[in-house]
Amino acid sequence: MIRFLHQGRTVELASPSPDDTVLDYLRDSTRCTGTKEGCASGDCGACTVVTAQLRDGELRYEPMNACIAPVGSLHGVQLITVEELRHEEELHPVQQAMVDAHGSQCGFCTPGFIMSLFAMFHADTGVDRHRVLEALGGNLCRCTGYRPIIDAAMQVLAGPRDDQFSAARDEAVARLASLGQDDDASESGGTYHLPRSVDELAALLAGQPDTRLVAGGTDLMLEVTQGLASLETIADLRQIPELGELTVNEDCIEVGAAVTHRQAQPVLLHDYPELAELIERFGALQIRSRGTVAGNVANASPIGDWPPVLLALDGSVKLVSSEGERVLPLSEFFLDYRKTAMRKGEFIRSLLIPRRRSNLFLRAYKISKRFEDDISSVCLVAALGVEDGLITDARVACGGMAAVPRRSEFCEKQLIGMALADGDITPAIDALCQDFQPITDARATADYRATVAGNLLRRLQLEYRGECATRITMEAEHG
Ligand SMILES: Cc1cc2nc3c(=O)[nH]c(=O)nc-3n(C[C@H](O)[C@H](O)[C@H](O)COP(=O)(O)OP(=O)(O)OC[C@H]3O[C@@H](n4cnc5c(N)ncnc54)[C@H](O)[C@@H]3O)c2cc1C
Ligand code: FES
Ligand code: FES
Repeated sequence: MIRFLHQGRTVELASPSPDDTVLDYLRDSTRCTGTKEGCASGDCGACTVVTAQLRDGELRYEPMNACIAPVGSLHGVQLITVEELRHEEELHPVQQAMVDAHGSQCGFCTPGFIMSLFAMFHADTGVDRHRVLEALGGNLCRCTGYRPIIDAAMQVLAGPRDDQFSAARDEAVARLASLGQDDDASESGGTYHLPRSVDELAALLAGQPDTRLVAGGTDLMLEVTQGLASLETIADLRQIPELGELTVNEDCIEVGAAVTHRQAQPVLLHDYPELAELIERFGALQIRSRGTVAGNVANASPIGDWPPVLLALDGSVKLVSSEGERVLPLSEFFLDYRKTAMRKGEFIRSLLIPRRRSNLFLRAYKISKRFEDDISSVCLVAALGVEDGLITDARVACGGMAAVPRRSEFCEKQLIGMALADGDITPAIDALCQDFQPITDARATADYRATVAGNLLRRLQLEYRGECATRITMEAEHG
């Protein structure tokens, strides 16, 4: 039984189909048609809804693309849709600000914008233009232009953040806590499983190895909405407490398989602040609030952004099955195009990322057609050990350059021993280009990919010399 809150009621779904999305539930089952369908692929934001969930005793509001979230994943949360925002005949402050600032023309995108701003209204962040742009990065508008929408956001977020939801906070916390205590969710016997422990999941997969796993669903559900496939059986990882753990010990950061990009962000940035831009440009807030770092790795896309990072940082995956647990270096995980070393019945329990070592010079670059909410044409991550100006060890990993994300060992060999500030980096660039035979596709030509990857290495050297501004130096200079 799936239980969640919507419009003040506790909704119970006996056995949701793995193929049914939150958007299907809203538009087809409940006729809540305020939430729109634009692209059905997570790209336009028209279907943005907000979930409120209890985490560490706090209510967290997060935006979500209803079009690619399975309805079963609503278990234990409060679903908030645009219909609920108007209260006692008054527009919500976010809606009123959009009216006042002339921030809306068509009725398709506006509900999505409103819901993204509503999530931000309830986030405990301050307001600045950067945060507003981040909140709106997953919402497309092709008519009004963003200026009035940004004005509306700046205006409403600078005021008091009080509304009917903040007034009913304690009641929502109590109701969500009692939903979480109903532990018969996994007993639905249907095709949408909600295992409660790693052992339960391992046993389920041992008996039914073809069960598909879903964490955030931001890759998986595209098979349904774009590929028109049908998922027969799903196991949802989000109710397994062990998989939601994010632990930092002396040697490594362990990121559980249900940890989202947004949850991992502050912990990883503490050790690796150089990853800030890459993380902020990973999809949009709707995607980063749902999608997981482990899901990105398991999906094994050649253009995924986390694999090059984890390869360069010498990360590993912890795999579990009913037979036990094993740890595999990420460099042995990707075997071929979308083929990994995971065996039948096995799943990723967590990712292990070494803590920062001294003398590390790290750069992570993402080249894509659009700055926000786009996937990489090329992603290059270089982790160099530098002592007395000389490169003592090098790990350079690329996405978008081969059938699998992988390191360029030839290039790494050329880098070792080189003086990073004034050595000739051309042989390393040539080696990088020889190491990969990128493909031409709609995103970029093979030539472009090879040239851009080489140029990124050159940029890395310029940044080391301080001759090229980086996000890190710009923030240090301008605060
Ligand atoms: C609009 C949009 C923008 C995007 N932008 C980016 C981007 O900028 N960069 C990028 O790299 N990707 C991007 N993605 C892809 C996607 O968001 C990421 O790959 C995300 O991290 C996947 O995580 P998830 O939890 O949603 O995975 P899911 O969709 O839940 O799962 C992905 C796959 O991995 C399997 N799986 C999940 N967890 C496990 C596990 N623990 N063990 C074994 N198998 C598992 C699933 O069965 C499925 O096959 C984007 C997607 C969308 C829709
Ligand atoms: S309909 Fe476009 S993001 Fe969902
Ligand atoms: S409000 Fe819909 S395209 Fe601009």
